Amino acid sequence: MNVDKKTQGYLMVAGAGSLWGLLGLLGKILFHYQLSSQAVGLSRLFSGFILLFLYLSLKNPQLLKIDKKGLIHVAFLGLFSQALFNLFYFGAIEATSIATAVILLYTSPIFVMILSRIFYKELLTPFKIISLFLCIIGCFLTVTGGRVDALKMNFSGILVGIGAGFCYALMPIISKSIVDKYNSWTIVFYNFVFGFLFLLPFSNPLEVLQVGFDIKIWLLFICLGLITSILPYSLYVTGLSFGIESSKASIICTLEVVVSVTISYFVFREALGFWKLTGILLVLSSVIVLQGDTGLLCKRKKISIDYKRGIFMKKISVIYWSGTGNTESMAQSISKGAQGNREVKLVKVEYATKEDILNADAVAIGCPSMGVEELESEYMEPFIASFKDIGLNEKPMILFGSYDWGDGEWMREWDERMKNYGANILQEGLIAHLRPEDEDLHKCEEIGKKLASI
Ligand SMILES: Cc1cc2nc3c(=O)[nH]c(=O)nc-3n(C[C@H](O)[C@H](O)[C@H](O)COP(=O)(O)O)c2cc1C
Repeated sequence: MNVDKKTQGYLMVAGAGSLWGLLGLLGKILFHYQLSSQAVGLSRLFSGFILLFLYLSLKNPQLLKIDKKGLIHVAFLGLFSQALFNLFYFGAIEATSIATAVILLYTSPIFVMILSRIFYKELLTPFKIISLFLCIIGCFLTVTGGRVDALKMNFSGILVGIGAGFCYALMPIISKSIVDKYNSWTIVFYNFVFGFLFLLPFSNPLEVLQVGFDIKIWLLFICLGLITSILPYSLYVTGLSFGIESSKASIICTLEVVVSVTISYFVFREALGFWKLTGILLVLSSVIVLQGDTGLLCKRKKISIDYKRGIFMKKISVIYWSGTGNTESMAQSISKGAQGNREVKLVKVEYATKEDILNADAVAIGCPSMGVEELESEYMEPFIASFKDIGLNEKPMILFGSYDWGDGEWMREWDERMKNYGANILQEGLIAHLRPEDEDLHKCEEIGKKLASI
C-alpha cells in the first residue's frame, strides 16, 4: 500500500496519542507499589533517556551529538513540556481532582492553535475551529461522564491546570522549530535528559529505590520508558517532521483520552455509560473533521502545502529598488492587488534575502532603468546575479519598473535573463513612463491578483 508522507505523519501522531493513553494504566499499577505520581513522572523520564542512550550508543552514536543552538531549544523543550508540565499537572490534580486536571490539560489545543498561528502562520480554518470545539466538549464528556459535580474548581487549581495545558502546548510548538534540523531521536533524547534534570530538584529520586528490587517494578519502569515515552515521543516528533501542523497534531493527540477510558473499561471494568461514549465519539469526529480541512481548502487553492512545514497561506514577495519613488508606487499597487488570504511581503531589495524569492510561491521584482538600460548597480544587480548559479526552478515571476527616455530595452533584457536563470515569467515585464498613471497602477494591481491566483 502506498501511503503518502502526510498520512504517515497523521498515523504516527495518532499512534503517539494512543500510546500516551496507556500511561494511566501503567501509572495505576505503579501506584499500587506506593509510588507517588511525581516519582512515576521522574522514573518515566529516567527510564526513557537511559534506554534511548543505550540504543543510540549502539546503533548510531552520532545521533547523541547536538550543537549549542539545538541544545538551547531542547533545554526549553525539556523545561516546559516535561518538567514544568509535570509539576503543574500534578499540582492541579492535588488542588482539584484528576478529572478537573485532565480537562484543564485539554485547553492545550487552544494554546497550540493560537501559538502556531503566531509563530508558524498556520491558518485558523473553520474546520480546525469546529474540530477544536468537538474535541474539548468530547474530552469533557469522556472524562466526567457528563457529571459536572466530578469537577472541583478553585482559582489556584484552575490557574495551575491551565499552566499545565500551556506547557503541554509548547511541546509541538518548540519541537516544530527544530524537527527539520535535528534527528527525531536526538530531540527526544535531550528532551528526556533536560526534563529529568529540571524535575530532579522537585522530586525525591530515593523514593524509587525504597520500593526495593522487585523485578516487576523494574519491568514496569522499562515499559514506562519504552511504551509511554520513547515510542510516542519519537512517533510524534517524526510525524511533525512529515509536515503535520502543530495545531492538528495537538487535537489528534486527544485520542489519548479515548484510549485511556477504553482501557479503564476493559481492564478496570470502569463504567462507560452514554455520556462517556458520546464524548469518545466527539473526540473521534474531531479528528475526522480535521481531515476535511486539507482537501477543501486545497481545492479552492487558498493555501499551499509544504510537507516540511504543513499548511500555510501562499507567500508572495514583492521586491523592488526605487530612487525617486516611481517604481515604489508600482510595487505598492502590486502588493495591494495580491492581498487577501495571502501572505504578502513588500520589501526593498536592500533588505531582501534569497529566501524571499526561494520560499515564495510567486514573486514580483521591480527596478527602474538605470545606467544605460541597466539594473540599479549597487543592490539590485548583485541580488539578481546571485540567482545565476542557484537557479530559479520555475519560480512564477513578473518584473516591473519605471523608465524615462528609453524604449524599455532594460526590461526586455531582464525578462530574458530571468528566463535563463530558470524563472517562469508569467507575462512580459510591466513598464511605466516616469511616475505611474492611474492606468499603470491598475495594471500593477492586476499583476498582484495574477500572482495571488497561482
Ligand atoms: C542614473 C540614471 C540612469 C538612468 N538611465 C535610464 C535609461 O538608461 N533609460 C531610461 O529609460 N531611463 C533611465 N533613467 C530614468 C529612470 O529610469 C526614471 O527616472 C525612473 O522613473 C526612476 O524610477 P524610480 O523613481 O523608481 O527611481 C535613469 C535615471 C537615472 C537617475
